[in-house]
Amino acid sequence: MEIKCPSCNRIHRLEVDGAVPLIRCACSYEIVNSGTSPSPLQTHPSDPGPDMNGTIAVKKELSALIEISRLLVSTFNKDVLLSRIISLTAEVMDVEACSIILYDRDRDDMAFYMSKGPGQDEITQIRLAKGEGIAGWVFLNKKSVISQDTAKDERFSRKVDDSVQYTSKNLMCVPVFVGEEIIGVMECVNKKGGASFSAIDLTLFESMANHAGEAIEKARLMAENIKSMRLATIGQTLSSLSHCIKNILNGLSGGAFIVNKAMKDRNLELIGNGWDIVDKCIARITDLTMNMLAYSKERVPLYQSCNPNKTAREIAHLLSKRIEERGIRLNLELCNNMKEISMDSYGIFRCLLNLVTNAIEACPAENGEISITTRATDRGTAIFEVHDNGAGISDEQREKIFSVFFSTKGGQGTGLGLAVTQKIVEEHRGRIWLESAPGMGTTFFIELPSKQEAAPA
Ligand SMILES: Nc1ncnc2c1ncn2[C@@H]1O[C@H](COP(=O)(O)OP(=O)(O)OP(=O)(O)O)[C@@H](O)[C@H]1O
Ligand SMILES: [Mg+2]
Repeated sequence: MEIKCPSCNRIHRLEVDGAVPLIRCACSYEIVNSGTSPSPLQTHPSDPGPDMNGTIAVKKELSALIEISRLLVSTFNKDVLLSRIISLTAEVMDVEACSIILYDRDRDDMAFYMSKGPGQDEITQIRLAKGEGIAGWVFLNKKSVISQDTAKDERFSRKVDDSVQYTSKNLMCVPVFVGEEIIGVMECVNKKGGASFSAIDLTLFESMANHAGEAIEKARLMAENIKSMRLATIGQTLSSLSHCIKNILNGLSGGAFIVNKAMKDRNLELIGNGWDIVDKCIARITDLTMNMLAYSKERVPLYQSCNPNKTAREIAHLLSKRIEERGIRLNLELCNNMKEISMDSYGIFRCLLNLVTNAIEACPAENGEISITTRATDRGTAIFEVHDNGAGISDEQREKIFSVFFSTKGGQGTGLGLAVTQKIVEEHRGRIWLESAPGMGTTFFIELPSKQEAAPA
Protein backbone atom coordinates (compact mmCIF):
# COMPACT_ATOMS: atom_id res chain seq x y z
CA MET A 1 0.00 0.00 0.00
CA GLU A 2 1.25 3.49 -0.84
CA ILE A 3 0.61 6.72 0.98
CA LYS A 4 1.68 10.03 -0.43
CA CYS A 5 2.85 12.63 2.09
CA PRO A 6 0.55 15.63 1.75
CA SER A 7 3.32 18.01 2.65
CA CYS A 8 6.25 16.94 0.46
CA ASN A 9 4.64 14.40 -1.87
CA ARG A 10 7.10 11.66 -0.88
CA ILE A 11 5.61 8.21 -1.45
CA HIS A 12 5.58 5.91 1.58
CA ARG A 13 5.22 2.17 1.00
CA LEU A 14 3.50 0.32 3.84
CA GLU A 15 3.38 -3.32 4.73
CA VAL A 16 0.05 -3.77 6.51
CA ASP A 17 0.44 -6.86 8.67
CA GLY A 18 -1.73 -6.10 11.67
CA ALA A 19 0.96 -4.11 13.44
CA VAL A 20 0.57 -0.31 13.78
CA PRO A 21 2.66 1.20 11.05
CA LEU A 22 3.98 4.61 11.94
CA ILE A 23 4.70 6.68 8.86
CA ARG A 24 7.61 8.91 9.53
CA CYS A 25 8.22 11.39 6.77
CA ALA A 26 11.31 13.55 6.52
CA CYS A 27 9.00 16.57 6.71
CA SER A 28 6.80 17.38 9.72
CA TYR A 29 4.13 14.72 9.07
CA GLU A 30 3.80 11.71 11.27
CA ILE A 31 0.80 9.50 10.58
CA VAL A 32 -0.21 6.51 12.64
CA ASN A 33 -2.16 4.11 10.46
CA SER A 34 -4.38 1.47 12.04
CA GLY A 35 -3.76 -0.96 9.24
CA THR A 36 -7.09 -0.47 7.53
CA SER A 37 -6.89 0.45 3.88
CA PRO A 38 -6.56 4.14 3.39
CA SER A 39 -9.29 5.94 1.50
CA PRO A 40 -8.49 7.09 -2.06
CA LEU A 41 -8.13 10.60 -0.67
CA GLN A 42 -5.37 9.46 1.67
CA THR A 43 -3.47 7.79 -1.11
CA HIS A 44 -3.82 10.70 -3.49
CA PRO A 45 -4.26 13.80 -1.38
CA SER A 46 -3.58 16.19 -4.20
CA ASP A 47 -6.23 14.66 -6.42
CA PRO A 48 -9.54 14.24 -4.64
CA GLY A 49 -11.15 13.11 -7.91
CA PRO A 50 -14.25 14.35 -9.62
CA ASP A 51 -16.80 12.70 -7.30
CA MET A 52 -19.69 14.89 -6.10
CA ASN A 53 -19.07 14.31 -2.40
CA GLY A 54 -15.49 15.44 -2.76
CA THR A 55 -16.58 18.64 -4.57
CA ILE A 56 -19.18 19.43 -1.92
CA ALA A 57 -16.65 18.82 0.87
CA VAL A 58 -14.07 21.09 -0.75
CA LYS A 59 -16.69 23.82 -1.16
CA LYS A 60 -17.65 23.50 2.51
CA GLU A 61 -14.01 23.62 3.57
CA LEU A 62 -13.32 26.65 1.42
CA SER A 63 -16.30 28.55 2.74
CA ALA A 64 -15.23 27.69 6.32
CA LEU A 65 -11.76 29.09 5.63
CA ILE A 66 -13.26 32.21 4.03
CA GLU A 67 -15.56 32.74 7.00
CA ILE A 68 -12.65 32.47 9.45
CA SER A 69 -10.53 34.88 7.39
CA ARG A 70 -13.40 37.38 7.40
CA LEU A 71 -13.97 36.95 11.12
CA LEU A 72 -10.27 37.52 11.79
CA VAL A 73 -10.47 41.02 10.32
CA SER A 74 -13.80 41.89 11.90
CA THR A 75 -13.28 41.01 15.59
CA PHE A 76 -10.50 41.04 18.16
CA ASN A 77 -12.38 38.90 20.63
CA LYS A 78 -10.27 35.79 21.14
CA ASP A 79 -13.09 33.67 22.57
CA VAL A 80 -15.53 34.58 19.78
CA LEU A 81 -12.90 33.72 17.17
CA LEU A 82 -11.75 30.48 18.78
CA SER A 83 -15.29 29.32 19.42
CA ARG A 84 -16.19 29.83 15.75
CA ILE A 85 -12.97 28.20 14.56
CA ILE A 86 -13.63 25.12 16.71
CA SER A 87 -17.28 24.84 15.66
CA LEU A 88 -16.46 25.21 11.97
CA THR A 89 -13.60 22.73 12.26
CA ALA A 90 -15.85 20.14 13.89
CA GLU A 91 -18.41 20.73 11.13
CA VAL A 92 -16.15 20.53 8.09
CA MET A 93 -14.06 17.70 9.52
CA ASP A 94 -17.27 15.86 10.33
CA VAL A 95 -16.00 14.92 13.79
CA GLU A 96 -17.71 14.43 17.13
CA ALA A 97 -15.43 16.75 19.12
CA CYS A 98 -12.85 19.46 18.63
CA SER A 99 -10.73 21.19 21.28
CA ILE A 100 -7.99 23.73 21.62
CA ILE A 101 -5.42 23.06 24.32
CA LEU A 102 -3.06 25.89 25.27
CA TYR A 103 0.28 25.88 26.99
CA ASP A 104 0.21 27.63 30.38
CA ARG A 105 3.61 29.24 30.86
CA ASP A 106 3.05 29.94 34.57
CA ARG A 107 2.20 26.33 35.45
CA ASP A 108 4.33 24.77 32.72
CA ASP A 109 1.49 22.49 31.66
CA MET A 110 -1.40 22.47 29.20
CA ALA A 111 -5.05 23.30 29.71
CA PHE A 112 -8.10 22.60 27.56
CA TYR A 113 -9.02 26.18 26.69
CA MET A 114 -12.16 25.49 24.71
CA SER A 115 -13.97 22.43 23.48
CA LYS A 116 -17.01 21.53 21.34
CA GLY A 117 -18.59 18.12 21.63
CA PRO A 118 -19.49 15.59 24.35
CA GLY A 119 -18.50 16.74 27.87
CA GLN A 120 -17.28 20.10 26.56
CA ASP A 121 -17.73 21.88 29.90
CA GLU A 122 -15.99 19.21 31.99
CA ILE A 123 -13.17 18.99 29.45
CA THR A 124 -12.21 22.63 30.01
CA GLN A 125 -11.35 21.76 33.63
CA ILE A 126 -8.72 19.21 32.51
CA ARG A 127 -5.01 19.90 32.47
CA LEU A 128 -2.26 17.86 30.82
CA ALA A 129 1.42 17.63 31.55
CA LYS A 130 3.57 18.84 28.64
CA GLY A 131 4.23 15.37 27.21
CA GLU A 132 0.96 13.75 28.31
CA GLY A 133 -1.22 12.01 25.73
CA ILE A 134 -1.10 12.62 22.00
CA ALA A 135 -1.73 16.36 22.61
CA GLY A 136 1.33 16.50 24.88
CA TRP A 137 3.39 14.55 22.33
CA VAL A 138 2.40 16.95 19.53
CA PHE A 139 3.28 19.91 21.73
CA LEU A 140 6.73 18.56 22.62
CA ASN A 141 7.56 17.35 19.11
CA LYS A 142 5.87 20.19 17.21
CA LYS A 143 4.53 17.66 14.71
CA SER A 144 1.03 16.84 13.51
CA VAL A 145 -0.38 13.39 14.22
CA ILE A 146 -3.21 11.32 12.80
CA SER A 147 -4.01 8.40 15.02
CA GLN A 148 -6.45 6.16 13.17
CA ASP A 149 -6.82 3.81 16.13
CA THR A 150 -6.07 5.37 19.49
CA ALA A 151 -6.37 2.00 21.26
CA LYS A 152 -3.24 0.90 19.47
CA ASP A 153 -1.36 4.16 19.91
CA GLU A 154 0.98 4.03 22.89
CA ARG A 155 1.05 7.84 23.15
CA PHE A 156 -2.70 8.01 23.75
CA SER A 157 -3.85 8.84 27.31
CA ARG A 158 -7.33 7.87 28.55
CA LYS A 159 -7.44 10.78 31.02
CA VAL A 160 -9.98 12.84 29.07
CA ASP A 161 -12.09 9.87 27.97
CA ASP A 162 -12.30 8.60 31.57
CA SER A 163 -13.30 11.94 33.03
CA VAL A 164 -16.14 12.50 30.55
CA GLN A 165 -17.05 8.85 29.94
CA TYR A 166 -16.34 8.92 26.26
CA THR A 167 -14.39 6.75 23.83
CA SER A 168 -11.94 8.35 21.44
CA LYS A 169 -11.52 5.94 18.55
CA ASN A 170 -9.44 8.02 16.20
CA LEU A 171 -8.06 11.52 16.40
CA MET A 172 -6.05 14.15 14.68
CA CYS A 173 -3.86 16.59 16.61
CA VAL A 174 -1.91 19.55 15.20
CA PRO A 175 0.34 22.20 16.71
CA VAL A 176 -0.84 25.80 17.08
CA PHE A 177 1.97 28.22 16.33
CA VAL A 178 2.42 31.95 16.76
CA GLY A 179 5.35 32.65 14.46
CA GLU A 180 7.97 30.04 15.32
CA GLU A 181 6.68 29.51 18.84
CA ILE A 182 4.28 26.67 19.66
CA ILE A 183 1.54 27.89 22.00
CA GLY A 184 -0.71 24.82 22.11
CA VAL A 185 -2.44 22.19 20.01
CA MET A 186 -5.80 21.55 18.39
CA GLU A 187 -7.41 18.14 18.48
CA CYS A 188 -10.25 16.57 16.48
CA VAL A 189 -11.77 13.36 17.82
CA ASN A 190 -13.81 10.59 16.16
CA LYS A 191 -14.56 11.06 12.48
CA LYS A 192 -18.29 10.48 12.16
CA GLY A 193 -19.58 7.26 10.62
CA GLY A 194 -16.43 5.39 11.70
CA ALA A 195 -14.43 6.88 8.80
CA SER A 196 -10.68 7.46 8.88
CA PHE A 197 -8.95 10.83 8.75
CA SER A 198 -7.47 11.68 5.38
CA ALA A 199 -4.39 13.65 4.45
CA ILE A 200 -6.66 16.40 3.14
CA ASP A 201 -8.36 16.53 6.57
CA LEU A 202 -4.95 17.06 8.09
CA THR A 203 -4.04 19.89 5.70
CA LEU A 204 -7.32 21.68 6.39
CA PHE A 205 -6.99 21.12 10.13
CA GLU A 206 -3.49 22.63 10.11
CA SER A 207 -4.86 25.61 8.28
CA MET A 208 -7.59 26.05 10.93
CA ALA A 209 -4.92 25.76 13.64
CA ASN A 210 -2.95 28.53 11.90
CA HIS A 211 -6.03 30.72 12.06
CA ALA A 212 -6.44 29.88 15.75
CA GLY A 213 -2.81 30.96 16.34
CA GLU A 214 -3.50 34.18 14.44
CA ALA A 215 -6.63 34.86 16.53
CA ILE A 216 -4.72 34.33 19.78
CA GLU A 217 -1.85 36.55 18.67
CA LYS A 218 -4.24 39.26 17.49
CA ALA A 219 -6.03 39.27 20.84
CA ARG A 220 -2.68 39.43 22.67
CA LEU A 221 -1.48 42.38 20.58
CA MET A 222 -4.78 44.15 21.10
CA ALA A 223 -4.62 43.66 24.88
CA GLU A 224 -1.03 44.96 24.85
CA ASN A 225 -2.06 48.02 22.83
CA ILE A 226 -4.97 48.77 25.13
CA LYS A 227 -2.69 48.44 28.16
CA SER A 228 -0.07 50.79 26.77
CA MET A 229 -2.73 53.26 25.60
CA ARG A 230 -4.28 53.17 29.07
CA LEU A 231 -0.91 53.78 30.72
CA ALA A 232 -0.17 56.62 28.30
CA THR A 233 -3.60 58.16 28.99
CA ILE A 234 -3.16 57.86 32.76
CA GLY A 235 0.28 59.47 32.45
CA GLN A 236 -1.08 62.30 30.30
CA THR A 237 -4.06 62.81 32.62
CA LEU A 238 -1.91 62.97 35.72
CA SER A 239 0.62 65.33 34.19
CA SER A 240 -2.06 67.69 32.77
CA LEU A 241 -4.05 67.78 36.00
CA SER A 242 -1.15 67.99 38.42
CA HIS A 243 0.35 70.89 36.47
CA CYS A 244 -2.89 72.83 36.75
CA ILE A 245 -3.60 71.83 40.37
CA LYS A 246 -0.06 72.88 41.35
CA ASN A 247 -0.70 76.36 39.94
CA ILE A 248 -4.00 76.67 41.79
CA LEU A 249 -2.31 75.55 45.03
CA ASN A 250 0.43 78.14 44.51
CA GLY A 251 -2.31 80.76 44.14
CA LEU A 252 -4.04 79.50 47.29
CA SER A 253 -0.89 79.61 49.42
CA GLY A 254 -0.04 83.07 48.02
CA GLY A 255 -3.53 84.32 48.96
CA ALA A 256 -3.33 82.70 52.40
CA PHE A 257 0.09 84.29 53.00
CA ILE A 258 -1.30 87.76 52.22
CA VAL A 259 -4.33 87.18 54.47
CA ASN A 260 -2.06 86.03 57.35
CA LYS A 261 0.28 88.96 57.01
CA ALA A 262 -2.60 91.43 56.70
CA MET A 263 -4.20 90.01 59.84
CA LYS A 264 -0.98 90.52 61.80
CA ASP A 265 -0.78 94.09 60.49
CA ARG A 266 -4.54 94.52 61.03
CA ASN A 267 -4.74 95.76 57.44
CA LEU A 268 -8.35 95.20 56.39
CA GLU A 269 -7.82 96.24 52.78
CA LEU A 270 -4.96 93.78 52.35
CA ILE A 271 -7.07 91.02 53.95
CA GLY A 272 -9.68 91.70 51.26
CA ASN A 273 -7.06 91.47 48.48
CA GLY A 274 -5.63 88.21 49.85
CA TRP A 275 -9.09 86.73 50.30
CA ASP A 276 -9.95 87.64 46.68
CA ILE A 277 -7.05 85.47 45.48
CA VAL A 278 -8.12 82.59 47.74
CA ASP A 279 -11.69 82.95 46.46
CA LYS A 280 -10.64 82.78 42.81
CA CYS A 281 -8.47 79.73 43.43
CA ILE A 282 -11.37 77.97 45.17
CA ALA A 283 -13.57 78.78 42.13
CA ARG A 284 -10.91 77.37 39.78
CA ILE A 285 -10.44 74.15 41.71
CA THR A 286 -14.24 73.77 41.93
CA ASP A 287 -14.53 74.24 38.14
CA LEU A 288 -11.74 71.75 37.53
CA THR A 289 -13.29 69.14 39.84
CA MET A 290 -16.74 69.58 38.26
CA ASN A 291 -15.27 69.23 34.75
CA MET A 292 -13.34 66.13 35.79
CA LEU A 293 -16.49 64.59 37.22
CA ALA A 294 -18.53 65.48 34.14
CA TYR A 295 -15.93 64.01 31.81
CA SER A 296 -15.14 60.87 33.73
CA LYS A 297 -18.46 59.05 33.46
CA GLU A 298 -21.36 58.45 31.13
CA ARG A 299 -24.38 60.27 32.47
CA VAL A 300 -27.95 60.54 31.40
CA PRO A 301 -28.90 64.23 31.74
CA LEU A 302 -31.43 65.07 34.46
CA TYR A 303 -34.00 66.78 32.27
CA GLN A 304 -36.22 69.53 33.63
CA SER A 305 -38.33 72.12 31.92
CA CYS A 306 -36.18 75.22 31.95
CA ASN A 307 -35.89 78.54 30.14
CA PRO A 308 -32.44 78.96 28.48
CA ASN A 309 -32.62 82.70 29.23
CA LYS A 310 -32.54 81.90 32.95
CA THR A 311 -29.29 79.92 32.57
CA ALA A 312 -27.74 82.73 30.48
CA ARG A 313 -28.67 85.29 33.15
CA GLU A 314 -27.22 83.14 35.94
CA ILE A 315 -23.89 82.85 34.09
CA ALA A 316 -23.75 86.57 33.43
CA HIS A 317 -24.41 87.19 37.11
CA LEU A 318 -21.85 84.64 38.33
CA LEU A 319 -19.07 85.94 36.09
CA SER A 320 -19.94 89.65 36.24
CA LYS A 321 -17.23 90.45 38.78
CA ARG A 322 -14.52 88.64 36.78
CA ILE A 323 -15.70 90.35 33.57
CA GLU A 324 -15.77 93.77 35.20
CA GLU A 325 -12.31 93.38 36.75
CA ARG A 326 -10.87 92.82 33.29
CA GLY A 327 -12.64 95.86 31.88
CA ILE A 328 -14.66 93.69 29.49
CA ARG A 329 -18.04 94.89 28.20
CA LEU A 330 -20.78 92.27 28.47
CA ASN A 331 -23.84 92.26 26.21
CA LEU A 332 -26.68 89.99 27.23
CA GLU A 333 -29.06 89.63 24.30
CA LEU A 334 -31.88 87.36 25.32
CA CYS A 335 -34.63 86.14 22.99
CA ASN A 336 -38.01 87.72 23.89
CA ASN A 337 -40.13 84.74 23.00
CA MET A 338 -37.88 82.00 24.31
CA LYS A 339 -39.92 79.04 25.57
CA GLU A 340 -38.93 76.52 28.19
CA ILE A 341 -37.06 73.52 26.84
CA SER A 342 -36.22 70.15 28.32
CA MET A 343 -32.61 70.33 29.54
CA ASP A 344 -30.30 69.42 32.37
CA SER A 345 -29.99 72.96 33.68
CA TYR A 346 -26.91 72.14 35.76
CA GLY A 347 -25.14 70.54 32.75
CA ILE A 348 -25.98 73.42 30.39
CA PHE A 349 -24.92 75.89 33.08
CA ARG A 350 -21.52 74.12 33.09
CA CYS A 351 -21.30 74.38 29.27
CA LEU A 352 -21.97 78.12 29.30
CA LEU A 353 -19.58 78.58 32.20
CA ASN A 354 -16.81 76.91 30.17
CA LEU A 355 -17.58 78.94 27.02
CA VAL A 356 -17.81 82.31 28.79
CA THR A 357 -14.68 81.57 30.88
CA ASN A 358 -12.80 80.85 27.63
CA ALA A 359 -14.21 84.07 26.14
CA ILE A 360 -13.00 86.09 29.17
CA GLU A 361 -9.54 84.53 28.85
CA ALA A 362 -9.48 85.22 25.09
CA CYS A 363 -10.49 88.90 25.29
CA PRO A 364 -7.79 91.51 24.68
CA ALA A 365 -6.42 93.39 27.69
CA GLU A 366 -8.22 96.51 26.50
CA ASN A 367 -11.68 96.95 24.95
CA GLY A 368 -12.64 93.36 25.50
CA GLU A 369 -16.22 92.54 24.55
CA ILE A 370 -18.36 89.49 25.16
CA SER A 371 -21.92 88.81 24.00
CA ILE A 372 -24.14 86.08 25.38
CA THR A 373 -27.13 85.60 23.10
CA THR A 374 -30.11 83.23 23.11
CA ARG A 375 -32.29 82.48 20.06
CA ALA A 376 -35.34 80.34 19.40
CA THR A 377 -35.32 78.78 15.92
CA ASP A 378 -38.19 77.83 13.56
CA ARG A 379 -37.14 74.22 14.08
CA GLY A 380 -38.22 74.54 17.71
CA THR A 381 -34.65 74.41 18.99
CA ALA A 382 -32.88 76.85 21.31
CA ILE A 383 -29.47 78.33 20.52
CA PHE A 384 -26.93 79.86 22.88
CA GLU A 385 -24.19 82.01 21.34
CA VAL A 386 -21.08 83.17 23.15
CA HIS A 387 -19.04 85.72 21.21
CA ASP A 388 -15.75 87.40 22.12
CA ASN A 389 -13.52 89.85 20.29
CA GLY A 390 -10.35 87.95 21.16
CA ALA A 391 -7.55 86.74 18.92
CA GLY A 392 -9.68 84.04 17.29
CA ILE A 393 -8.85 80.40 16.64
CA SER A 394 -6.62 79.23 13.79
CA ASP A 395 -7.67 76.36 11.49
CA GLU A 396 -4.93 74.21 12.99
CA GLN A 397 -6.19 74.73 16.56
CA ARG A 398 -9.82 74.33 15.50
CA GLU A 399 -9.18 70.65 14.71
CA LYS A 400 -8.00 69.96 18.25
CA ILE A 401 -9.94 72.23 20.59
CA PHE A 402 -12.59 69.65 21.51
CA SER A 403 -9.94 67.02 22.29
CA VAL A 404 -9.46 66.31 25.94
CA PHE A 405 -6.35 67.99 27.43
CA PHE A 406 -5.79 70.27 24.43
CA SER A 407 -4.90 73.64 25.91
CA THR A 408 -2.78 76.58 24.84
CA LYS A 409 -2.85 78.04 28.37
CA GLY A 410 0.03 76.08 29.91
CA GLY A 411 -0.49 75.53 33.64
CA GLN A 412 -3.51 77.87 33.60
CA GLY A 413 -5.70 75.43 31.67
CA THR A 414 -6.35 71.69 31.65
CA GLY A 415 -8.01 71.42 28.25
CA LEU A 416 -11.07 69.82 29.82
CA GLY A 417 -13.54 72.71 29.36
CA LEU A 418 -14.53 72.24 25.69
CA ALA A 419 -14.30 68.43 25.84
CA VAL A 420 -16.77 68.44 28.74
CA THR A 421 -19.00 70.98 27.01
CA GLN A 422 -19.15 68.90 23.83
CA LYS A 423 -19.90 65.76 25.87
CA ILE A 424 -22.81 67.39 27.74
CA VAL A 425 -24.25 68.88 24.53
CA GLU A 426 -24.08 65.51 22.79
CA GLU A 427 -25.72 63.83 25.79
CA HIS A 428 -28.59 66.28 25.12
CA ARG A 429 -28.58 65.21 21.43
CA GLY A 430 -27.67 68.79 20.63
CA ARG A 431 -24.74 70.19 18.64
CA ILE A 432 -21.89 72.58 19.26
CA TRP A 433 -19.89 74.48 16.66
CA LEU A 434 -17.90 77.66 16.27
CA GLU A 435 -17.16 80.47 13.87
CA SER A 436 -13.81 82.15 14.17
CA ALA A 437 -11.10 83.85 12.21
CA PRO A 438 -7.75 85.05 13.53
CA GLY A 439 -8.15 88.67 14.65
CA MET A 440 -11.95 88.56 14.25
CA GLY A 441 -12.91 86.97 17.54
CA THR A 442 -14.80 83.75 18.11
CA THR A 443 -18.43 82.71 18.46
CA PHE A 444 -19.39 79.36 19.96
CA PHE A 445 -22.91 78.05 19.30
CA ILE A 446 -24.85 75.42 21.24
CA GLU A 447 -28.13 74.21 19.75
CA LEU A 448 -30.47 72.12 21.91
CA PRO A 449 -33.69 70.32 20.97
CA SER A 450 -36.76 71.58 22.85
CA LYS A 451 -37.92 68.08 23.82
CA GLN A 452 -36.01 65.01 24.86
CA GLU A 453 -37.16 61.46 24.31
CA ALA A 454 -37.93 59.68 27.55
CA ALA A 455 -34.90 57.76 28.83
CA PRO A 456 -35.24 54.00 28.36
CA ALA A 457 -36.64 52.29 31.48
N1 LIG B 1 -12.98 81.79 22.79
C1 LIG B 1 -11.80 81.30 22.48
N2 LIG B 1 -10.88 82.04 21.80
C2 LIG B 1 -9.67 81.53 21.49
N3 LIG B 1 -9.25 80.29 21.79
C3 LIG B 1 -10.11 79.50 22.47
C4 LIG B 1 -11.42 79.97 22.85
N4 LIG B 1 -12.03 78.94 23.48
C5 LIG B 1 -11.18 77.92 23.50
N5 LIG B 1 -10.02 78.24 22.90
C6 LIG B 1 -8.84 77.37 22.71
O1 LIG B 1 -9.23 76.05 22.95
C7 LIG B 1 -8.39 75.46 23.97
C8 LIG B 1 -9.19 74.46 24.75
O2 LIG B 1 -10.19 75.09 25.53
P1 LIG B 1 -10.70 74.38 26.83
O3 LIG B 1 -11.73 75.23 27.44
O4 LIG B 1 -11.05 72.98 26.49
O5 LIG B 1 -9.41 74.27 27.74
P2 LIG B 1 -8.66 75.41 28.53
O6 LIG B 1 -9.50 76.66 28.55
O7 LIG B 1 -7.30 75.55 27.98
O8 LIG B 1 -8.56 74.79 29.99
P3 LIG B 1 -9.78 74.51 31.02
O9 LIG B 1 -9.88 73.05 31.12
O10 LIG B 1 -9.33 75.14 32.26
O11 LIG B 1 -11.00 75.12 30.44
C9 LIG B 1 -7.92 76.65 24.78
O12 LIG B 1 -6.69 76.38 25.46
C10 LIG B 1 -7.73 77.71 23.68
O13 LIG B 1 -6.51 77.51 23.00
MG1 LIG C 1 -11.53 76.58 29.15
